[in-house]
Amino acid sequence: MKLKFTSIILLLIFFSCSNKKVDKFPDDFAWGFAVSAFQTEMGNRNGTNNDVNSDWWVWTHYNVENNTGRVSNDLPEDGPDMYDLYESDFALAKSTGINAFRLSIEWSRIFPDASGVPDQKAVAHYHSVFQSLKSHGLKPLVTLHHFTTPVWLHDPLWIIDKANHGNGPRGWLEQRTVDEFVKFAEFCGKEFGGEVDLWATINEPMVVSIGGYLNPLPGNAFPPNELNPEHMVAVTVNLMKAHAGAYRALKEYDTVDVDGDGKSAIVGIVQSMTDFAPVDENDEDDKIAAQHASYLYNEWFLNAIAKGILDSDLDGNGEPAPELGPSVDYIGVNYYTRMHVYRLGQLFPYYPVIDFLPRYPEDCVTNTCTEMGYIIYAPGLYNVLKIADGYGFPIYITENGIADANDALRPEFLKQHLQQVLNAIKDGMDIRGYFYWSYVDNFEWGLGYSKKFGMFSFDPVTKERFKRPSADVYSQIIGAGKVE
Ligand code: GAL
Repeated sequence: MKLKFTSIILLLIFFSCSNKKVDKFPDDFAWGFAVSAFQTEMGNRNGTNNDVNSDWWVWTHYNVENNTGRVSNDLPEDGPDMYDLYESDFALAKSTGINAFRLSIEWSRIFPDASGVPDQKAVAHYHSVFQSLKSHGLKPLVTLHHFTTPVWLHDPLWIIDKANHGNGPRGWLEQRTVDEFVKFAEFCGKEFGGEVDLWATINEPMVVSIGGYLNPLPGNAFPPNELNPEHMVAVTVNLMKAHAGAYRALKEYDTVDVDGDGKSAIVGIVQSMTDFAPVDENDEDDKIAAQHASYLYNEWFLNAIAKGILDSDLDGNGEPAPELGPSVDYIGVNYYTRMHVYRLGQLFPYYPVIDFLPRYPEDCVTNTCTEMGYIIYAPGLYNVLKIADGYGFPIYITENGIADANDALRPEFLKQHLQQVLNAIKDGMDIRGYFYWSYVDNFEWGLGYSKKFGMFSFDPVTKERFKRPSADVYSQIIGAGKVE
């Protein structure tokens, strides 16, 4: 009898311990912030850190100077100046309790022109950045392409100023850009492999292709701002090739295992994922629209690089494409919102799955929305993680965040979304880390500085950083290993 009683007690202890275990984030979970080079590096008062050699620099300056209305009037050189301030920024970021940091290397700084000769000052700069991350105990996750392309490969004005730029290089429409990107990846693997193990090849390829070639959004135009579905498809396929080539280059040339886990290069993609839902959930057509939207935006690219299946005519059926994949070690998920779509019928008959439109702007009367006009919907994070998990690779949440200047919604946003991450882990999904977008307010592309995603703000003149209260909420969650 006594024995039975003891074993019941032991069983109870066992279950309460194991429950506790799954109620918490894993001990080795990566907690971090995410930033990108173009959005955060510039801002030095003397302009000495401006990088004038990327397409986005040319794009924003042309549109602002010509008052085209395509983008805001803000300019990247008024940013938080992380190029100078990275050391104190990493110390401040670390003080929240994080152990990792996602940033990007600016391709146009390393290779400012077509000569193929790297700029040694820029190379030395990124070495210092990685040394600084190391000294603060922050593991780097390094993106090679975060929206910006060197202007010697992409003249972003070739559509909107045809008279003067019509013959300019056409970026991701050209095989040359693919080849040069693979060379850039090879260079980074060799040069920075001793400091970096965790790589992301391309940030949100579907935003690059849809944003650039199918984007109806006024006021937040992505270069080159053409409405051309064939080009959208061609650019996407070239980005798939670029990813696969860069994956192989990093695996081959980064041979140094920095953290001693037996792996010298862990290489993934960063995929923007949206939780698509039908506008009318009882309407069969709208349901199909939601499936098609998810297929196009969330799955098409991943099918190519994670399964080696390419659907080049967007009819919902792919062909084997072993040259494209599998070429991932993990999937990076960026999640911001749910979006409602409805079916419109064939927009482009030769691409059957493009037959829907989003309800835009979203319904912010009955839903709480962010300053971006995005619906806040935390269960959508779980839904897209489930899609990513279906590919069978580990997952990092490489971006999740909210534009919220007053920090009124961010604390709850953070808790709700992290609870969904924990639910996903409990349900067996292999999620390795979470990077909040963003560490500090920064240049939100066509929308400039009006959208404040940072857990820290900055003074536009002194560049001093100020902590928002949600940074303490983040610290608390990291410290406890759970959402309370
Ligand atoms: C992502 C992008 C980031 C940042 C964020 C906030 O699409 O990767 O650079 O702009 O959205 O909107």
